[in-house]
Amino acid sequence: MNPAPVKHGVRMKPRNHHPLVILHSITLNPKVTRLQGDGLLPPAIWSETYRVGHAEMDHHHRQLVHDFAVIQQAAAANLPRTQILGLLDDWLDQFARHARMEERLMEQLTLPMSQDHREAHMAEHVAFLHQAMDIRNALAHGEDAVHALDHLGAQMIAFDMIRRDFELIGLLLHEGIAL
Ligand SMILES: [Fe+2]
Ligand SMILES: [Fe+2]
Repeated sequence: MNPAPVKHGVRMKPRNHHPLVILHSITLNPKVTRLQGDGLLPPAIWSETYRVGHAEMDHHHRQLVHDFAVIQQAAAANLPRTQILGLLDDWLDQFARHARMEERLMEQLTLPMSQDHREAHMAEHVAFLHQAMDIRNALAHGEDAVHALDHLGAQMIAFDMIRRDFELIGLLLHEGIAL
């Protein structure tokens, strides 16, 4: 039997590709923070299991994952640091625009549990951007932040796209807001 495919350092079980199962595996599996044989985590790869069912969010997420993989590949290929920083700056703008779009969706929510979600989700967007900026600044100062960059990609997928965004979609549906 062929071994199960590996995604972001997590060996996937067949027929077990639901995003929450992937998140569970990432959270519990310490291998996700370990480096692969070549010293790098695999580049971010889009999976259709990440689709949340909201056309604009799915379009943004697909583009974010694709463009992040381009940065990882540029870093792995040792392209000039200025080029990598330029790609990362564009990507950070893209993520910030994406976060604002989700925050506009959250403004339509009114129930108390939705307000809790909104506060936590918005705080996580800000924390993620701060973390990404720290990595960007480390790269700008010549530090080898490539591994940190890889970890950031996996984190974006696991904790923003999978955990919080699926929760947001559930709340929108719960409050009868059309996707
Ligand atoms: Fe989000
Ligand atoms: Fe998102």
